[in-house]
Amino acid sequence: MEQAEPIDSLMEKIVNLCKRRGVIFQSADIYGGFRSTYDYGPVGSLLLRNVKEAWWKSMVQLRHDVVGLDASILSPPAVWEASGHLENFSDPLVDCKECNERFREDQLEDLGTCPACKAENSFTEARAFNLMFKTHAGPVEGTGHDVYLRPETAQGMFTNFKLVQETARKKPPFGIAQIGKSFRNEITPGNFVFRTREFEQMEMEFFVPPNEANEWFEYWCKERMNWYLDLGIPEEKIQLRPHDADELSHYSSGTSDIEFLFPWGWGELEGVANRGDFDLRAHAQHSGEKLTYFDPELGEHYVPHVIEPAAGATRSMMAFLLAAYDEEYVNDDLRTVLRFDERIAPYKVAVLPLSRKETLTPTAQEIFDLVKSRWMSDYDETQNIGKRYRRQDELGTPYCVTIDFDTLDDRAVTIRDRDTMEQDRVSIEQLVNYLGERLS
Ligand code: GAP
Repeated sequence: MEQAEPIDSLMEKIVNLCKRRGVIFQSADIYGGFRSTYDYGPVGSLLLRNVKEAWWKSMVQLRHDVVGLDASILSPPAVWEASGHLENFSDPLVDCKECNERFREDQLEDLGTCPACKAENSFTEARAFNLMFKTHAGPVEGTGHDVYLRPETAQGMFTNFKLVQETARKKPPFGIAQIGKSFRNEITPGNFVFRTREFEQMEMEFFVPPNEANEWFEYWCKERMNWYLDLGIPEEKIQLRPHDADELSHYSSGTSDIEFLFPWGWGELEGVANRGDFDLRAHAQHSGEKLTYFDPELGEHYVPHVIEPAAGATRSMMAFLLAAYDEEYVNDDLRTVLRFDERIAPYKVAVLPLSRKETLTPTAQEIFDLVKSRWMSDYDETQNIGKRYRRQDELGTPYCVTIDFDTLDDRAVTIRDRDTMEQDRVSIEQLVNYLGERLS
């Protein structure tokens, strides 16, 4: 396996920084933590929101051929029966008869040795373990009341295909996009937020005339690769890998994964799949609804084929964190800096009065009021200015605006650039213009 960085060091640094700076916390921390489940803190919730916002902007806002959807998380068994998830959405599970640990058989390096207790030939026969979380709706448990938490957002786009197509007055090629939580009872969650049981996805189903499917598949592979590159993932850390035939999901006739070079090797960020007409046909058959498009030019109904770019929001956020992480020595001092693209950065501007002296507060507040309505901004007046710069470097804030005692006389502030650490003196009047030229 390709090795990018010493695993423990970079991952440990990221996990540590995430806790220290309010990016990601272990869930239920005060109760000792709930395994493999995470909460996004003040900074992490901004970062995750920015990743999702960048996706939504490129996939929905800037396109005339994609519309949005926010479908329910709970759905009845009929949906998952039709989608094939009840039958096929499972991983091969084995138990060690010596220590009772459970593993995904396809992830074991040595099928003869238990990685936990090292027992030889101690595994049970593999059995299919369905990854969907099942619960019940209403006060009564039992058949007829079962519901599932969605394991992917995709099915909401298929079950709403007709309603969206008609109300949005779209004709193929067109897409439906959605961001939201999905749930999978993963056998082996791990690697921080890479694989969790509750996570967020950013998925789009693009409905096309059948004879255009291959062309659109190529198109979306390129578009989606460019999205990551444009937002700062370096070329050498991202690749497009076509699936082998035996890797394909039950619905796919062709998939390419967009992979990121994580500290432990290449891992999937997004799958771009050619789902053919599998989903619309299956839902039409199970629901009895006609899920076709009538092409007035051809004078016929057809079942559109689907190209699906399916990304993980929480997993991509982790990739953006890893790619942005940098350390450098400044006058023998180690500086840690997250070099986020400004669109991803949690805060765009930090307003830092040089001291907490009351004389500076009204002007500092005036500056904060000037910038906060346009950019997500932080206001920080604790500790010395050097420590505050370092804190903002670790949050990845592109610009710090410092108000000092000269500001009271010359009505000018110092703007510090995160990456170069260069400082410019700019009049308060010009501040918004100055930042506006550098931030979106
Ligand atoms: N609708 C297709 C689908 O869900 P997938 O490859 O299973 O495809 C899409 O999931 C993306 O969702 C993955 O590329 C990954 O980024 C993210 N994802 C899937 N399972 C995840 C998990 N357990 N934890 C975090 N992210 C996950």
